[in-house]
Amino acid sequence: MKKHICIVCGWLYDPKEGDAERVAPNTAFEEIPDTWTCPLCGVTKENFELYDDEMPETEAIEEKKQIINDREGLGYNEIVKDVFEVGAKDWDREMFDELIPLPDGTSYNAYIIKSEGITVLIDTVEPSKSHVLFEHLEHINVNKIDYIVSNHAEQDHSGSIPLVLEKFPEAKVITNPKCKKLLISHLDLAEEVFITVDEKTPFKFGNKTLEFVYTPWVHWPETMSTYLVEDKIFFTCDFFGSHRATSKLFVYDEAKVLEDAKRYYAEIMMPFRKHITKNIAKVEQKEIAFIAPSHGPVYNRPELIIDAYKEWISPKVHDKILIPYVSMHESTAIIVDKMVERFTQAGIHVIPFNIPKTDIGQIAIELVDAATIIFGSPVILGGIHPQLVNVAYLANMLRPKAKYVSFVGSHGWGGKMMKQYETLLSNVKAEIVEPTFVRGIPTEENDDEIDSLVNKIIELHKELKNQ
Ligand code: FEO
Repeated sequence: MKKHICIVCGWLYDPKEGDAERVAPNTAFEEIPDTWTCPLCGVTKENFELYDDEMPETEAIEEKKQIINDREGLGYNEIVKDVFEVGAKDWDREMFDELIPLPDGTSYNAYIIKSEGITVLIDTVEPSKSHVLFEHLEHINVNKIDYIVSNHAEQDHSGSIPLVLEKFPEAKVITNPKCKKLLISHLDLAEEVFITVDEKTPFKFGNKTLEFVYTPWVHWPETMSTYLVEDKIFFTCDFFGSHRATSKLFVYDEAKVLEDAKRYYAEIMMPFRKHITKNIAKVEQKEIAFIAPSHGPVYNRPELIIDAYKEWISPKVHDKILIPYVSMHESTAIIVDKMVERFTQAGIHVIPFNIPKTDIGQIAIELVDAATIIFGSPVILGGIHPQLVNVAYLANMLRPKAKYVSFVGSHGWGGKMMKQYETLLSNVKAEIVEPTFVRGIPTEENDDEIDSLVNKIIELHKELKNQ
């Protein structure tokens, strides 16, 4: 039984040991299921090559072996020598901002950099998890913190700064002037604890250098990212983050992490696509080995998340239709079912979301790249059903890049839904396709109207594909 090496990250599969979590010892590489992925970087089995101490090595294997050697002796939470992740996992957190469900929990990452007796902490954790941060500091023998870099003033990263200062009163807080103001107002910190920096002020300590890059609106206007020059690590805080609690330091399952990151992007980044375009251009000016965000695992293949962001912020939409809807007495559901059937037959990816049974985060994820949104609601008390209002309001806040919007539903004797929709969706710059509202239960007589809406949207999607 031969060893195999991951040509992406250098992780070595030794059949004698297996993969501690998923493959039993003494399993030949060939016997591992095709669905298995690299425990370190998450790529599939096809990215592994035969590894033999005796065989001549390709340049790629030589390079990856170097990575393994470099990682020898590093701790479970050590990105590179003397750079540690010391934050906290929140396995049970169910909601963020009391808005988006978190099926995989989340984490508040914080990082320690040690250099020639000087210790720098990058960001902190949600105050309710400060005890975990302190345990992790103790575990890596941190008995002094000289500087705390605060990339972002929101409390899930800054909230434990007062507690860290209480324990290490000699520490100074390094941040930009805008963030300083917010930290003072949110945490009541004293002026004298701050050292303010800007993009032109590198900060040297020991044999390391930090550079600061303003990355506004990912998530708040004061947000910055910090670059550790010597180790090529970008600490990007919310930017590129994913809501995910995992015991793995690095991305473990790329597809899953991208879904979590997309949920995160959808909820708080999507409205700021123009800013993100500029921020990515700035980040790409640096040579990056690792992206270390403040939520979710560290990316040891930075291009994974950078390329995903580029796709999400691009004007490109997918051949996909979302139908968020509410139905009280099945009339709206009948219309939705008919449309779903027709769109399916036309080969279009269509996703109906029965709102009372839907994780609203899934709608947010699909809003990132859907070409069309069709809202469905019955009239209730003269207007749109409140549960649909909630989703339309959210869609309006998130400013999706959809090209087309339409509306369907049923009413008993009239209503003012269109006026409400126009007000609710003022930020959604999509073309409105003539809506269809029926009286009572849809009958065969309504089929023509429904078909007309469906045909129009199918035509528009064909045009989109030809562009
Ligand atoms: Fe994760 Fe904007 O805080």
